[in-house]
Amino acid sequence: MKISVFGIGYVGLVQAAVMAEVGHDVLCMDIDAVKIAQLQRGQVRLYEPGLAELVRESLEAGRLRFTTDERAAVEHGRVAFIAVGTDSQADGSADLAGVLAVSDAIARHRRDPLVIVEKSTVPVGTGDRLQARIAKAVKDAGRSLDFEIVSNPEFLKEGSALADCRRPDRIIVGITSAHARETMRELYEPFNRNHDRMLFMDLRSAELTKYAANCMLATKISFINQMAELAEHLGADIEAVRQGIGADPRIGYHFIYPGCGYGGSCFPKDLRALIHSAGEAGCASDLLQAVEAVNARQKGKLFELVRRHFGDDLRGRTFALWGLAFKPNTDDMREAPSRDLMEALWAAGARVRAYDPEAMHEAQRLYGDDERLQLMGTPEAVLSGADALLICTEWQQFKAPDFALIARKLAAPVIIDGRNLFDPERLARYGLRYFAIGRGE
Ligand code: UGA
Repeated sequence: MKISVFGIGYVGLVQAAVMAEVGHDVLCMDIDAVKIAQLQRGQVRLYEPGLAELVRESLEAGRLRFTTDERAAVEHGRVAFIAVGTDSQADGSADLAGVLAVSDAIARHRRDPLVIVEKSTVPVGTGDRLQARIAKAVKDAGRSLDFEIVSNPEFLKEGSALADCRRPDRIIVGITSAHARETMRELYEPFNRNHDRMLFMDLRSAELTKYAANCMLATKISFINQMAELAEHLGADIEAVRQGIGADPRIGYHFIYPGCGYGGSCFPKDLRALIHSAGEAGCASDLLQAVEAVNARQKGKLFELVRRHFGDDLRGRTFALWGLAFKPNTDDMREAPSRDLMEALWAAGARVRAYDPEAMHEAQRLYGDDERLQLMGTPEAVLSGADALLICTEWQQFKAPDFALIARKLAAPVIIDGRNLFDPERLARYGLRYFAIGRGE
């Protein structure tokens, strides 16, 4: 099937690559000419395991192409995915400028029937808005166009994006007609073998499903982080509690890991957008606001532990930091807890020496000019003479380090761990003082 994809960010590129892999003929359009030129040469700027190889294979096979030509992209597909960014605006609402620009281009250039798929996360009601907007633009131009809006939210996780797209646990499709249902069935047929994963519903329910899923997951995280805070103050160990509650299948083990707060491009943005939508609808969002408030506090947790140990004035101190990305297997630092931590340390006069397996370029881009941050080539190199080791991201390579070496190299034998990676008793044997989340010392 011929498919057009508008917006080649994380979601658009992964979706395009996975669709091309199964044999669809995919043309991708983006207004960023530099990015398109790189992709045409098979260069993928973002780090996602397996993605660059897949893009190059599909490019060579001719099933995946990239263009800045809006008209060519509008004319190409029988299905057009809108996968442009919907970042937060100052009031928390999602910025729909990119989505509206694509729909305007479709209204301008399209003559044949088209199914338009919202892949970007968009506020409930956006599908209806696009339907009316395109219909009006076409009518004002004295033409007619046979088109339909479909909502098909994306549930991929950074770091395992290809696997998530190749084997989705559900394919949510909001539709208004039998024709769109058939088109979407045909499109997803290669991903829907063995058992039916497609869930059809109305447009608004599909749009809300996306927000509800992310808000539920964020709620689980803030819940366990609040329990961790309680555990710390009541002398309990959150790691024991986590396992104790996770054994109940109604609760489950997933997404109840305490930590230094959730970050990334999705949870914070989607929480804000849904709270904003609730406000507009005159509806309460107190639970969601509490989830946000707990997370904001949690992102300050590591700094609070530093301050508790070293005092308010951190001038002259240097901290070693492992992990800059908001989670492992990505180079993404959007809303990463490491950023809150570093910025708080700098404000208190400290310097930071940091290492991350993939996010060094991103850190360089964000903070390269700041001489209070030194980026080092190995996890060991950040340690020498540092006042403490701080951990923000649970990369595999941080999980079984040489504790004797850490104890030797640090000026003070202190580890402050935002991901609860280690066994406190083992660290005590190396003479290391260990502070983690919800565990006491
Ligand atoms: C999230 C969702 O998990 C995806 O299903 C969704 O498609 C995506 O947002 C999106 O809307 O595009 P992602 O942001 O890539 O995916 O990352 P997650 O793996 O969900 O992690 C989010 C944050 O929660 C990270 O900072 C992570 O460290 C934190 N987290 C996660 C915890 O603190 N504890 C946990 O138990 C799990």
